[in-house]
Amino acid sequence: MKAYESFRIKDLELKNRLVMPPMCMYCAPRSRPTDFHRAHYGARALGGVGLVIMEATAVLPEGRISDNCLGLWSDDQVTPLADLVGHIHALGARAGIQIGHAGRKCGAAEETLYAPSALDYSDDGRYRTPKAMTQGDIDRTVAAFAAAAGRALAAGFDVVEVHGAHGYLVNQFLSPLSNHRTDGYGGTMEGRSRFLREVLAAVRTEWPKEKPLFLRVSAEDYADGGMTSEQMVAILRGVTDWVDVVHVSSGGVTPVLPPVFPGYQAAFSETIRRGVKLPTVAVGLITTMEMVEEILGNGRADLVALGRELLRNPFFPLTEARRLGIELPWPEQYRRAFL
Ligand SMILES: Cc1cc2nc3c(=O)[nH]c(=O)nc-3n(C[C@H](O)[C@H](O)[C@H](O)COP(=O)(O)O)c2cc1C
Repeated sequence: MKAYESFRIKDLELKNRLVMPPMCMYCAPRSRPTDFHRAHYGARALGGVGLVIMEATAVLPEGRISDNCLGLWSDDQVTPLADLVGHIHALGARAGIQIGHAGRKCGAAEETLYAPSALDYSDDGRYRTPKAMTQGDIDRTVAAFAAAAGRALAAGFDVVEVHGAHGYLVNQFLSPLSNHRTDGYGGTMEGRSRFLREVLAAVRTEWPKEKPLFLRVSAEDYADGGMTSEQMVAILRGVTDWVDVVHVSSGGVTPVLPPVFPGYQAAFSETIRRGVKLPTVAVGLITTMEMVEEILGNGRADLVALGRELLRNPFFPLTEARRLGIELPWPEQYRRAFL
């Protein structure tokens, strides 16, 4: 089965095509991981996924989604993450980290909210009105992405994923619904994608060219005048010098909920894979190995991420292999489970 075939990109070798996608756990006091994170990520590594991508980790304090989100804006945040990377490696998986900035969807109590334009996310007062970013704010934020990537390297991560999806800061710049700027960072698609290009170029100054850089995008805004997967293809064609893998998600720029059904984002992954000619990760209500095989076999993605399924069943890769009669090495300590 393709799901259990290895995957190589640059100097990264994954033992299979199954990925744990980033999922905020909102339980990182002082923006540092706890014993919970060790058990949580360790369980999925032990359960057999090829790649664990750790949750959205803020590049600045005002980039946090909540007060209890992980951060990577300071050197003393490196060591606890390095411990986690070592733990994940020891349990047989590769480790990635998603670096991001919440922009106008920052829920940290004491922080100023920054965004391309001073536009509220919603009418219900869920978030405070953001400040439109000055050139100085933009430069400081771009530099913070680069510094966070350098710290991710120091922590030993195999993959850095830039969070360009779900209506967070990078996505706020990309979408005409949240970016009403009239300077060089707004207007045309070229202008709206400038912040993304600056972030990626800066990250690449710290993240070595031998190591893969993933970019997570929202391919569809599900709203009139918003982004579509075809427009996203055009933007991604302009960033292939920096990006190795596109992680294809959708939604989040507005409160509109996407129409959700099994595999609801796989078609976007296929459009981007064929249009941009970069490997992709498909994600979104993929819950069975049959769905994984369909997506990989039909060339709709190169890797498949399972989020909530892995929350329910950390051993999904191993238990599914066993159900399908595929011999995979279980942890030696568990040998007697099958005697
Ligand atoms: C609890 C939870 C937290 C999430 N946090 C993040 C996050 O930090 N970054 C991100 O890009 N997506 C996040 N997501 C979205 C998931 O990565 C994934 O794309 C989504 O759940 C759809 O996949 P699934 O149907 O397999 O769960 C989160 C999802 C859940 C359920």
